[in-house]
Amino acid sequence: MTFPQHRPRIVGLGGSPRPGSSAEQALRCVLEEARRLGADTRLIAGADLAVPLFDPTARIRPPGVFRLLSEVAEADGVVLASPAYHGSLSGLVKNALDYLEELRDEPRPYLSGRAVGCVAVGQGWQGAMTTLGALRDVVHALRGWPTPLGVAVNTAEGAFDADGALVDPGLRDRLHLMAAEVVGFARRARAPRGPAGEPVGAGTWAGASNDV
Ligand SMILES: Cc1cc2nc3c(=O)[nH]c(=O)nc-3n(C[C@H](O)[C@H](O)[C@H](O)COP(=O)(O)O)c2cc1C
Repeated sequence: MTFPQHRPRIVGLGGSPRPGSSAEQALRCVLEEARRLGADTRLIAGADLAVPLFDPTARIRPPGVFRLLSEVAEADGVVLASPAYHGSLSGLVKNALDYLEELRDEPRPYLSGRAVGCVAVGQGWQGAMTTLGALRDVVHALRGWPTPLGVAVNTAEGAFDADGALVDPGLRDRLHLMAAEVVGFARRARAPRGPAGEPVGAGTWAGASNDV
């Protein structure tokens, strides 16, 4: 028994106001691989994140927030990438994530039911690692499933060339593996289930095998 391949939608969110920032490059690398694996992808980065500070009492959503919320609400998987700012995720990325409070009454509230890959970029390992941990904590708070692999990037060790292009093959491999984890989880979450929730036709559904 075979099933048609589900084409998951993966949303990448992050970066910094600098166009082509290292975090955005890493995000683009994950999304590129997700597309190769058969996903549709969306990128919310740079200027897209420049929205006013989240105000839980506001009655009207500021411009730009609608796309952020609708893309995340419809996503089958998410990838987050933030620079390390003073040991944690940047205010820009955190503010965008604070807006996900608006998704609390969705059929899948916040990030629930979705795998979320986290990438943290610092100018040293300490900041990259603490930022990665903070991102994963936020994903838990938003009821998402951080992928087993998180990726910490140290820009001081030559991950990017002078033009900002990602040149470290090991880093590319890790970002590709993260893409496989997000896409694979999205496919498994959509796999047909029997009355007791058991996978139907296990082994023939693309997401249930090891080939993601
Ligand atoms: C305000 C600010 C705070 C930063 N704090 C840290 C830090 O605590 N640890 C660290 O490793 N890098 C830190 N950095 C370096 C950035 O993480 C690093 O330059 C960034 O990931 C590269 O982003 P870019 O490609 O947008 O320039 C900081 C940078 C800025 C601007």
